[in-house]
Amino acid sequence: MERLQALVSEDMAAVEQLLAARAASPVAMIPDLSGYIVSAGGKRLRPLVTLASAHAAGGVGPGTHALAAAVEFIHTATLLHDDVVDESKLRRGKAAAKSVWGNSASILVGDFLFARAFTLMVETGSLEILDILSHASTVIAEGEVRQLAAQGRLDLPTEEYLAIVEAKTAALFEAAARAGALSSGSATAADALAAYGKNLGLAFQIVDDVLDYGGTTQVIGKSVGDDFREGKVTLPVVIARRRGSPEDKAFWDRALDPARQDESDLARAIRLIRATGAAEATIAEAQAYAGLARQALGALPPSPHRQALCDLADYCVSRLN
Ligand code: IPE
Ligand code: IPE
Ligand code: MG
Ligand code: MG
Repeated sequence: MERLQALVSEDMAAVEQLLAARAASPVAMIPDLSGYIVSAGGKRLRPLVTLASAHAAGGVGPGTHALAAAVEFIHTATLLHDDVVDESKLRRGKAAAKSVWGNSASILVGDFLFARAFTLMVETGSLEILDILSHASTVIAEGEVRQLAAQGRLDLPTEEYLAIVEAKTAALFEAAARAGALSSGSATAADALAAYGKNLGLAFQIVDDVLDYGGTTQVIGKSVGDDFREGKVTLPVVIARRRGSPEDKAFWDRALDPARQDESDLARAIRLIRATGAAEATIAEAQAYAGLARQALGALPPSPHRQALCDLADYCVSRLN
């Protein structure tokens, strides 16, 4: 992660400038709220993937920085919307924007950032890039709705869980990588980098779902147990329930109904996920996707950026404590 950040630090400085400049608006609440979430940090994984993909594919092109900023704005917009939908109180180690400004402001400023992302995409001058990111935006929205429809479905098949993760999270990583590669002006590396991005995104979200039960607020910058409180069925839960005793199954069936949950249930859920080996099994699944991500990079010529992308796949599955 540090190596990647160092390799693209000048590009990232330009992207940060764009993020600050394009959040500007005469309507004060817009720069106030967006400045709050953008400057709260965030790992900037997706623009890092875009920048490194461009470099690995032949070099940063005239539209690469605008593209990377657009990708981060789309991500930020989804976070503003997501914290309303998920009723999450913490984001990036601070009170979520919706806890400070309210749900309506968080949704509306999310829309603003999403719209600004489209302006930035147009500035890349590439209809192909516009197509890739418009498609990804559609797929993300579908993934979020698909997840909503799956809420409380305790027998969720693993394939459906993976389809949701692929849509809500991996699609943007995939688009960030593919469009980044194309922004270099060369199309040859685009498919390999897209496969890298997709598998990286799958690994990343699966690990995130384990951290929701096993992480600490300090590491994740979010409240532990958000998924549990909203009754979201994720892979660690599916596995723990499948491996559990009849009594454990009855627990999951009750506790994942937010109306029937009580205070001590989260601690028990965390215990069960550990005791049944569900955490380990879920991490193994993430590691398999990280392996596929690394494997996809084999189609590219060796370069420091390719190596940094490879290390990023390791980082995504090692951010576990
Ligand atoms: C959060 O993404 C949303 C998920 C896909 C899990 P990140 O963990 O990349 O969020 P920031 O940008 O670093 O805050
Ligand atoms: C985030 O999903 C994915 C999108 C924002 C589209 P989650 O709801 O699982 O992520 P966190 O845990 O809130 O970051
Ligand atoms: Mg959420
Ligand atoms: Mg969510």
